[in-house]
Amino acid sequence: MELFEAINTRHSVGKVKADAVPRELIEKLLDAGNNAPNHYKVRPWRFFVLTGDARNKLGDVMAASQHDRMPDAPKEAFDKTRTLPLRAPVIIAVGVDMPVETKVLEIENFSAASAACQNILLAAHASGLGAIWRTGDWARDSKVKEFFGFSDDQHIAGFIYIGYPDVIVDPLVRPSVEDRTAWME
Ligand SMILES: Cc1cc2nc3c(=O)[nH]c(=O)nc-3n(C[C@H](O)[C@H](O)[C@H](O)COP(=O)(O)O)c2cc1C
Repeated sequence: MELFEAINTRHSVGKVKADAVPRELIEKLLDAGNNAPNHYKVRPWRFFVLTGDARNKLGDVMAASQHDRMPDAPKEAFDKTRTLPLRAPVIIAVGVDMPVETKVLEIENFSAASAACQNILLAAHASGLGAIWRTGDWARDSKVKEFFGFSDDQHIAGFIYIGYPDVIVDPLVRPSVEDRTAWME
């Protein structure tokens, strides 16, 4: 798929099939993420690829965290949370390194990790996969961060849910860029 076609036709796909995605294809997506721009060549992204039972483990952590915060919530709420990571056969969680040198900025590392997320989304779309970038409270959840070995002050840029599309999404009509652009001459 041509680059501009991929950019202009990409859309979030929240409903995907349970079918496994070949590892070589996932590796192509990771390479695309790894080719994102980043200041000082720190490559601040950390990719965690969750498939199979790893998604259940993440679901257990999420449900446990919810239980800590809302111990009186009905059991059904925890059961539902536990299944959230099962919405796609592959999740790539994208963590962000905290800078270790003073010249490296936290916000720039986050920007670079976000660029990696977008590269993954575009590569998935160009490969015939459906994907959606999700965050929600889970990207800021202490227990979830701990699950990935992160300290509490580290960021998770997102969870990219990936699989073969199970829906046909109508072509999106997006607002024009004019109201977001100023030409300065
Ligand atoms: C940083 C970020 C976080 C997002 N988090 C969520 C999320 O938690 N749940 C969700 O359904 N979509 C999430 N999205 C996807 C957006 O809802 C989606 O990109 C937006 O609706 C535009 O649709 P499109 O991707 O099809 O262009 C997120 C997107 C970004 C960039």
